[in-house]
Amino acid sequence: MSPNRICLPLGMALVLGLVLSCLVSPIRGTCNVCNAANNLTCYSATQMQACQVGVLATASPAACPDGYVCVSASSGVLCQPKGEATSDCQECNKCDSSQTFACTGTDSFALCLGTSTVQDSTGTCAEGYVCNVNDTQICGLPADGVMPTCSYADGTTTSTTSSTTSTTATTASTPSTSSASSYCKAVQKQGNYAVGNDASTTCRQYIACSLVSGSWVGKTYTCPGSMYFSRASGLCVTSLPSTCSTSGSSTTSTTVAPTTSNPDAYCQAMKAQGYYPVGTVASTTCHQYIYCFLLSGVWNGQMYTCPGNLYYNSASRTCVAALPSTCSSTVASLTLNGILLD
Ligand SMILES: *[C@@H]1O[C@H](CO)[C@@H](O)[C@H](O)[C@H]1NC(C)=O
Ligand SMILES: *[C@@H]1O[C@H](CO)[C@@H](O)[C@H](O)[C@H]1NC(C)=O
Repeated sequence: MSPNRICLPLGMALVLGLVLSCLVSPIRGTCNVCNAANNLTCYSATQMQACQVGVLATASPAACPDGYVCVSASSGVLCQPKGEATSDCQECNKCDSSQTFACTGTDSFALCLGTSTVQDSTGTCAEGYVCNVNDTQICGLPADGVMPTCSYADGTTTSTTSSTTSTTATTASTPSTSSASSYCKAVQKQGNYAVGNDASTTCRQYIACSLVSGSWVGKTYTCPGSMYFSRASGLCVTSLPSTCSTSGSSTTSTTVAPTTSNPDAYCQAMKAQGYYPVGTVASTTCHQYIYCFLLSGVWNGQMYTCPGNLYYNSASRTCVAALPSTCSSTVASLTLNGILLD
């Protein structure tokens, strides 16, 4: 047994301050997965948390000592010296083996488009679902044993600092809607809230705030189809609310907003030759793709549909028989270079 490896059963470490040595076996890059050997999980690269197998842990995380990282080994979750071990909770923002997507937060992801790097893309999981890099449907339910690949600590590092400043400023300034969770932490009231006044973009979105295990969480949603969010009713409606401004798009119709139904505008946003995905609806847009090309200095796009019942796979950039993970019903929304893939 190595004397400089310590094993910290949470209760003992906290109550008795005991430091025990123990054997360590090769690690798995898991995060938030309860280790049955000692009912602990890595909450972040440097924090552990008490847990029950198959249940998303809610206990307060405890930090490893300085210079130690959290590792889930066959002997249980423990803190190991930083230089000797690779901690868990390291797979956030890393593309999956098929280079389709990477989890970017506990309930968000981004496309990788067949590369090993995260693209300018924002995907969200359906309500209650979490992003797991090993899940073939991208997002899964903790109740089904699917735990988030990213640490909850990653998403709160920025809002922890901002919440300390906002505690003094909440009454003075309106919280920004750019981060749904920090917005909800500032608002501290359950409900649906408007995002902005731009008729073509932010008027279609809303932030849903709820209290989960004692902390405020927020998610940004887009109304289905071409509906708008009504501040008055807190619901998605078909008529354009009076607070939504169409200035700019109403004066001229020559510039069309880039959407996947406008391949030329879509490709002007992509600015790179190649094949791109169109949407996330298994029965329709998942069969389509857009080819972008430069012609006389202008980006052009051509929409195609895969033959037969084949689907377009954004990672392999080919038509395939298997339903791509981006077309799963566990995915709530997806954008690429700011364009909504419906
Ligand atoms: C872990 O928790 C389960 C119940 O959730 C319990 O049956 C088991 O004995 C615990 N294991 C350890 C090592 O504490
Ligand atoms: C999850 O996926 C990553 C990257 O594709 C891989 O390295 C890792 O072994 C997988 N983990 C499990 C538990 O399958």
